[in-house]
Amino acid sequence: MTDQVVSTRIDWVREHCQLLRAISAEFRQTRPFDGLTIGTGIHLEAKTVALLLTLRDGGAGLVSTGNLNTTQPDAVEALRAEGITVIGGPTRDSGVHAGYLGEVLAAKPDLILDNGGDLFVRYLDRPYEGLLGGTEETTSGRMRLEPLRGQLKRPILVINDSPIKQFAENEHAVGQSALESFLRMTNRVTNGEQVTVFGYGACGRGVAANFRGACARVSVVDVNPVTRLQAHLDGFSTPPRDIAVANADVIITVTGARDVLTAADLPLLRDGVVLANAGHFPAEIDAAGLINADEVASQREYADDLLTLELVDGRRVHLLARGHMFNLAGPRPLGNSIASMDLGFALQARCLEAVATRSVDADPMASCVVPVPGHIDAAIANSYLDGKYPMAPR
Ligand SMILES: NC(=O)c1ccc[n+]([C@@H]2O[C@H](COP(=O)([O-])OP(=O)(O)OC[C@H]3O[C@@H](n4cnc5c(N)ncnc54)[C@H](O)[C@@H]3O)[C@@H](O)[C@H]2O)c1
Repeated sequence: MTDQVVSTRIDWVREHCQLLRAISAEFRQTRPFDGLTIGTGIHLEAKTVALLLTLRDGGAGLVSTGNLNTTQPDAVEALRAEGITVIGGPTRDSGVHAGYLGEVLAAKPDLILDNGGDLFVRYLDRPYEGLLGGTEETTSGRMRLEPLRGQLKRPILVINDSPIKQFAENEHAVGQSALESFLRMTNRVTNGEQVTVFGYGACGRGVAANFRGACARVSVVDVNPVTRLQAHLDGFSTPPRDIAVANADVIITVTGARDVLTAADLPLLRDGVVLANAGHFPAEIDAAGLINADEVASQREYADDLLTLELVDGRRVHLLARGHMFNLAGPRPLGNSIASMDLGFALQARCLEAVATRSVDADPMASCVVPVPGHIDAAIANSYLDGKYPMAPR
């Protein structure tokens, strides 16, 4: 009879983060963060636990909080059990969340790991001595921080702009997890349904491809005509915006922009349409505007973050996760695949190491809000591929 060990989902995830496990083993010897505190504001879920424990293995003190509405209680519990300071818990209240971010900055971290620019932007309100720099995870954060380079003036490496993050996470993994989340949350069919994807950047390409793979008819709306042409040549229909909206059974926004879908679109929407946002901020679909519109007679809240707006003319509009990122919502949210996050978080660990050890460009402006250095991308790609072919060639 064999021993049976009961383990958690977080244990499963950590076991599968092969790159982070290898970096952890190395960091235990090299200790690049000894004496340094890292402040983090990133989705707290199972994969992030693996990242934060890797940084801890490198000697870092950590002060961590999540992003708005994506903090998972089991991740917080696991981190606290490991002695890591976690500020706050799950919240949809942006005021409460701002308080958590303020507490992270009050610890005056030497390095910041940011997601969406929340920490770096607030740092500028109350700057302190000693911030070395850090990393920013997303497109949305880069867009926010770029105009502030003149004030930030320290190395901030943008993980999103690594080609590895672009294709491994944004394209392949966001596409898969958007489809997985749609099926898990709604249990509705995709076959033969008309799905409209707003935004055909890296994430939108993956979302469109995955829904097409699930036998949906997919149309793409993008404000950039060159990108629309790309979608057309990739075989998607690219009708004018309002026609795409009016014909959709499902609309997914993934643009990084605000007010992509608003109450002004209500007259166009089909009965039974599902609206979902996979972009970082819950501002792509104006959920409050839709809910409070004159056309809405009543609302029906279901379990699992499903809200139906019943319009005065009898049409129903279903909103997933009230416009928050739906691939981190609903029952048992899994987020992006472990391997994609292992790649992205290995980039995080190596970039934070580079800033901590001052091995990025010495000119602070030359390394402020810039992509991951190419040698880090190459090293991570080699490590991942080496793991796939561990046998030496004969
Ligand atoms: N859900 C997740 O797990 C996840 C993961 C990574 C990134 N993101 C987020 O997804 C969003 C998109 O990221 P990306 O890397 O694809 O960005 P991107 O910049 O590569 O692409 C965005 C696309 O949207 C288009 N666009 C902008 N405004 C538009 C509008 N009003 N209507 C239609 N199209 C519009 C742009 O022209 C561009 O082609 C960002 O907010 C990013 O932070 C989410």
